[in-house]
Amino acid sequence: MKFFIDTANLAQIKEAHELGILDGVTTNPSLMAKEGIKGTDAVQNHYKTICELVDGGDVSAEVISTDFDGIVEEGKKLAAIHPNIVVKVPMIKDGVKALRWFTENGIRTNCTLVFSAGQAILAAKAGATYVSPFIGRIDDSSWDGIELIAQISQIYSIQGFKTEILAASIRNALHIVKCAEAGADVCTCPLDSILGLLKHPLTDIGLAKFLEDAKKFA
Ligand code: G3P
Repeated sequence: MKFFIDTANLAQIKEAHELGILDGVTTNPSLMAKEGIKGTDAVQNHYKTICELVDGGDVSAEVISTDFDGIVEEGKKLAAIHPNIVVKVPMIKDGVKALRWFTENGIRTNCTLVFSAGQAILAAKAGATYVSPFIGRIDDSSWDGIELIAQISQIYSIQGFKTEILAASIRNALHIVKCAEAGADVCTCPLDSILGLLKHPLTDIGLAKFLEDAKKFA
């Protein structure tokens, strides 16, 4: 399973990259706004900086347009920023049409705002590179996000769809483990959830004991 970080914050991207486990980055308009990035030039420069930071990893950049022509024009501009840009397109009717257009024109895509297996089938049929089910938001509304990952994974495997399942809206480290178990190809996570994977009290207790005992022969 690949690890992406779900942020537009350069310091957090750098920290995850330095850990040596980062395969890419996902952003969205809310995450970009959180960093205070404004204006076309600033947005484009920020995406370029992220691409250079994670050298080689995919970086999802989301369109804001909701009509076919607008999505295609915006997507072309985003894709031109850097070869690692993946155009993030919402799961709406014009979005599906645009996914097909991007597929036929060699532009990689991430279909976002996916909350059902039916939507995931449409994204795959349109040739999306990635499909992003939002598991945390599903859990927030008392449905089961992990179950959706497992269902999509089963459908894609039975049908031979090539689209990669990118589990998004991760809330904690357990989500990451469960997504891996359920067949996600990629998990995009906040830095805290990634670092949460490190934690176990027995590791801390064990290390303290080893360091204490080491003093006896140092
Ligand atoms: O990038 C999409 C997704 O990961 C959003 O997560 O926490 O806003 O539900 P969240």
